[in-house]
Amino acid sequence: MIDPRSIYATVGEEGFNRLTAAFYDGVAADPLLRPLYPEGELEPARRRLALFLMQYFGGPTAYSDERGHPRLRMRHFAFPIDQARRDAWLRHMAAALDSLELTPEVRATMQRYFEDAATFLVNRAEGDPERLPLRGVSTPPGG
Ligand code: HEM
Repeated sequence: MIDPRSIYATVGEEGFNRLTAAFYDGVAADPLLRPLYPEGELEPARRRLALFLMQYFGGPTAYSDERGHPRLRMRHFAFPIDQARRDAWLRHMAAALDSLELTPEVRATMQRYFEDAATFLVNRAEGDPERLPLRGVSTPPGG
């Protein structure tokens, strides 16, 4: 595992834009995830994710300059995220990571972060879209 904050220097702005574009191509075609974006437009969400990831992985702080503290768990409460949606999100992100030419160390560090963050963002029990599971942690890694 390498320092996540060293990753922006190798992936760069173009890499994060390509990553999030490939990721949202997957989301656009996903029957579990697409309904979470009722406004239809995915580009604003793609851009917010790209800015956040650039900041988390050691790049410029444009995300917080625009959006303030990430508070990701709070910002995701509006969206019912169960294990199936978590797994779908991670599947699209893994495919997007595969579309970049990353060293094994960078790939593994990013994958690990996404798995941990996605797990922290689960906010509904399987099969019960309204119930909040009890959790001791209110802040995912990275905010
Ligand atoms: C676990 C499955 C996940 C689902 C179903 C999900 C879904 C969503 C949805 C529907 C939005 C609103 C789109 C918008 O910005 O307009 C959103 C926003 C966002 N998500 Fe996720 N997300 C997931 C995991 C993650 C993970 C793992 C990260 C970070 C590594 C992340 C980072 C973000 C960010 C930065 C925003 C924009 C927050 C803001 O500034 O308003 N999400 N997500």
